[in-house]
Amino acid sequence: MSKKRIALIGGGQIGGNLALLAAQKELADIIIFDIPKAEGMVKGKALDLMQLRPHDGYDVNITGTSDWKDVSDADVFIITAGIPRKPGMDREDLLDINLGIMKDVAENIKTQAPNSFVIVISNPLDAMVYAFYKTSGFQSKKVVGMAGALDSTRFRTFIAMETGLSVQDVTCMVLGGHGDTMVPITRLATVGGVPITDLISKEKLSSIEERTRFAGGEIVKLFGNGSAFYAPAQSAIEMAESYLRDKKRVIPCASLCNGEFGIDGYFIGVPTVIGANGVERILDFELEKHEQQALNQTLDAVKKTVAETGL
Ligand code: APR
Repeated sequence: MSKKRIALIGGGQIGGNLALLAAQKELADIIIFDIPKAEGMVKGKALDLMQLRPHDGYDVNITGTSDWKDVSDADVFIITAGIPRKPGMDREDLLDINLGIMKDVAENIKTQAPNSFVIVISNPLDAMVYAFYKTSGFQSKKVVGMAGALDSTRFRTFIAMETGLSVQDVTCMVLGGHGDTMVPITRLATVGGVPITDLISKEKLSSIEERTRFAGGEIVKLFGNGSAFYAPAQSAIEMAESYLRDKKRVIPCASLCNGEFGIDGYFIGVPTVIGANGVERILDFELEKHEQQALNQTLDAVKKTVAETGL
């Protein structure tokens, strides 16, 4: 049986880490694709990664290319093509440039691998995943955006840091758009099953929520040139793994809603079951009034950015 293939469209900071993590999990053979100007860079990254495999014996093949034909019939695509933020920029400031790139990428993936499963990471995420969906004409279950997986791990991290307890035992979810209006569902967060509201004061919890909303910007400011890459890469790899291994994990993802949470026709962060069929289910549940209001607010922000795509 031939190995599955993951194509990484964009081989920059996140792309390179995606390749490393996918190799370490032996998820599939990996092709790193970038523009012709960056072909040497992705070929070099691929070769470097090939040379780390003997340490742990990862039997996957890793290549770099700028030729779309090399990704034909790949099973999974993870798209980071585009430019990242600089300090002072919102994710929305990337729209014009990244939209053009996303349309080009969508046309090519549609030609090369019409049955693939596609995970979009490029920002502004909720609009970019929408743009991919509209341009490619893919079924909605084959297109998903990586946002909530990352926002939730950030929330979990800050809770673990505050309580001094293992990050492994912190569960929580962040819904909504991948922007400053995202909605951490603090009411449902637990550490080892114990409600977080019994462990951390209300004031502290709202400052953790606030830090979560701006966590991406905090890193952009520290870097001075570029945005986060380790945690975003791992978040997308978990999604790809759930698809390739049919794990049916429940991960907050930007999925196309069809009435769930009162949302219709937009990709937004909701609890999503990912399995061999792609997006298999969205787990809808009753939100409290203030949570639903916050979700409606984040939906307005998503609608505004999507409208700017003109799609
Ligand atoms: N096709 C393929 N790759 C492209 C294209 C294209 N049309 N246009 C640009 N790229 C490549 C760039 O050459 C670069 O190597 O995308 C890569 C982006 O890498 P980085 O600049 O290092 O950005 P990164 O930190 O990986 O973030 C990528 O993900 O989280 C988002 O906001 C972030 O939109 C940004 C994206």
